[in-house]
Amino acid sequence: MTTPKKLFVKTYGCQMNVYDSERMVGALEAAGYETTDTADAADMILLNTCHIREKAAEKVYSELGRLKPLKSANPELKIGVTGCVAQAEGAEIMRRQPLVDLVVGPQAYHRLPQMEARVRAGETALDTDFPEEDKFDHLPRGPRARRGPTAFLTVQEGCDKFCAFCVVPYTRGAEASRPVARILDEARDLVDRGVVEITLLGQNVNAYHGVGEGGAWSLAQLIRALAKIDGLLRIRFTTSHPNDMTEDLIAAHGEVEKLMPYLHLPVQSGSDRVLTAMNRKHSATDYLRILQRMRAARPDIALSGDFIVGFPGETDADFDATLALCDQVRYAQAYSFKYSARPGTPAANRAEVPEDVKTDRLHRLQAVLTQHQQEFQQSMVGRDLPILLEKPGRLPGQLVGRSPYLQPVHLQADAALTGTIVTTKILGSETNSLRGAPV
Ligand code: 5AD
Ligand code: SF4
Repeated sequence: MTTPKKLFVKTYGCQMNVYDSERMVGALEAAGYETTDTADAADMILLNTCHIREKAAEKVYSELGRLKPLKSANPELKIGVTGCVAQAEGAEIMRRQPLVDLVVGPQAYHRLPQMEARVRAGETALDTDFPEEDKFDHLPRGPRARRGPTAFLTVQEGCDKFCAFCVVPYTRGAEASRPVARILDEARDLVDRGVVEITLLGQNVNAYHGVGEGGAWSLAQLIRALAKIDGLLRIRFTTSHPNDMTEDLIAAHGEVEKLMPYLHLPVQSGSDRVLTAMNRKHSATDYLRILQRMRAARPDIALSGDFIVGFPGETDADFDATLALCDQVRYAQAYSFKYSARPGTPAANRAEVPEDVKTDRLHRLQAVLTQHQQEFQQSMVGRDLPILLEKPGRLPGQLVGRSPYLQPVHLQADAALTGTIVTTKILGSETNSLRGAPV
């Protein structure tokens, strides 16, 4: 028997990249690889890259530079770049960094095994097509050994919204939904392998419209069907666009017990002027109304969002409108970023807000968001919450789980309870997590 070749995958960016990395591992396991946790021992290194913010391409080139000694030590080592930088840069990557053997964009991952064979034969391989066929139909489901009780499942990919700041329509392509039957099969398979919580992924997940019985299904229909799977205990989804927040999806939050009370709904800005410049196609009031309806359907819903500060043209008054929106919503948790021009996007050529202004606004916004997050976490203290125990914590005897509202919770519990839901009294709140004890 030949010894398996070693594969090291480094994943950057979003949860969809995490999911894609697993599928690529599955594909290369079928081609005779096993994964390793260190680049040093690898016969194949894949950098699964992200292009969403900042100097993504530059970071990839410097990471590749650091791999040079490994390649000199082991001429058999093959290096690949995958993900959104691969899509955006294409052949340029191999021109600038000849140690790269393989470049593959997110829609061509099913061709990875053939590409691997070509690079093993000493060629280079490049594929940034957007093929007709669904890559997931031709990719093994994931690694042979699954780790842990939670899993991601991509149901939708790409985006047709064209927000003026965003690369996703260019790197992930047009919006596409996977068929219902495939998703249900994959979910059942995950549950058979010990998964009890599934997070449905899509860049615009609530625009889901996959083929199902009787025609195109909505995300809410898909969630209701998934909820019927025995052994699946929790369902989540991310990320959503306000304009696709349909009545049936809102209602599902009040009706489907397995659907967790947490919604990540990015707004990006609280100023209508900026929202228009961003091509968001909704106002701040539209957004607040949706949240009102969400809270009517599920009063305890934890809300999360994304913000961009310093978008081209953002004034102090615009920024104040963002702070005011946050005060109204009181997010349980939120992400905020300085605007960073992405080559090829509509906003890329607009005059930029000075860097120091961006930095100052980011700090001010984050102070407000942190304050609200602390308030939300404090409101959990003293309550008994069902915590899904996920993995060992840092301290001996400690496990980390998640509340229905997605906060990490640390508690002392038997490792055998991993993968079960344990009623836990919340005793305290840390910066980004809660502390508790089993009841
Ligand atoms: N600059 C800064 N932040 C961005 N995001 C997307 N594109 C950019 C950009 N060019 C943020 C948005 C989005 C999140 C995933 O990343 O807030 O919701
Ligand atoms: Fe990054 Fe967006 Fe690509 Fe995910 S889809 S890896 S966030 S650029």
